[in-house]
Amino acid sequence: IAPSILSADFVNLERDIRKLSETGVDYVHVDVMDGHFVPNISFGSSVMKSLLGKTNLPFDVHLMIEQPERYVEQFRDAGADIITVHQEAAIHLHRVLGQIKGTGAKCGVVLNPATPVCMVENVLDDVDMILLMSVNPGFGGQAFIPGTIEKIKKLKAMIGDRNIEIEIDGGVSDKNAALLTEAGANVLVMGSAVFNAENPSELIREAKCLR
Ligand code: DX5
Ligand code: ZN
Repeated sequence: IAPSILSADFVNLERDIRKLSETGVDYVHVDVMDGHFVPNISFGSSVMKSLLGKTNLPFDVHLMIEQPERYVEQFRDAGADIITVHQEAAIHLHRVLGQIKGTGAKCGVVLNPATPVCMVENVLDDVDMILLMSVNPGFGGQAFIPGTIEKIKKLKAMIGDRNIEIEIDGGVSDKNAALLTEAGANVLVMGSAVFNAENPSELIREAKCLR
């Protein structure tokens, strides 16, 4: 489970990050938005850097930005353990994946809802993670796009026995977690579901035991 801090309380990020660390989650999902690739601006590497040392959880950085190659080193230096870039924003996708790996971080490709899985066909041997967007990127709290289930199955078949994590991002909750993991998802991003939950630990346990 990778909770997205886009849905956290920005006035109490340290508190929320510390609370997350006690709920049994696996990553901190950091949604970086530039107001160009997506119609919203979130935060940059300096905000993420301020959270270093506040948690032992790996930072799973989702770059929803144009020209991601310009920011790879900056986010690695700020503590990113995984950096995912949008296929739609990377003119030279194979090159930027190598750039990310060159920093020592794990690398991944993100596909928007309308982008077919065949777009990652030629980089399957270069990635550690493939993130399928189940909402149109830019905001938390949106409705899950049902067609994502079939897309997961198609991607899973394409991946075969390669060691690639499938991450699903957008409109995920304990209500659809089982469907997603049965279809082949390994990592579930949850933003509003976690930060609006009465008992986040309970929600995480439920989402996980459905595997
Ligand atoms: C949307 C982001 C998602 C979003 C998830 O552009 O990539 O990570 O924050 O939030 P929920 O889980 O509320 O859809
Ligand atoms: Zn995200």
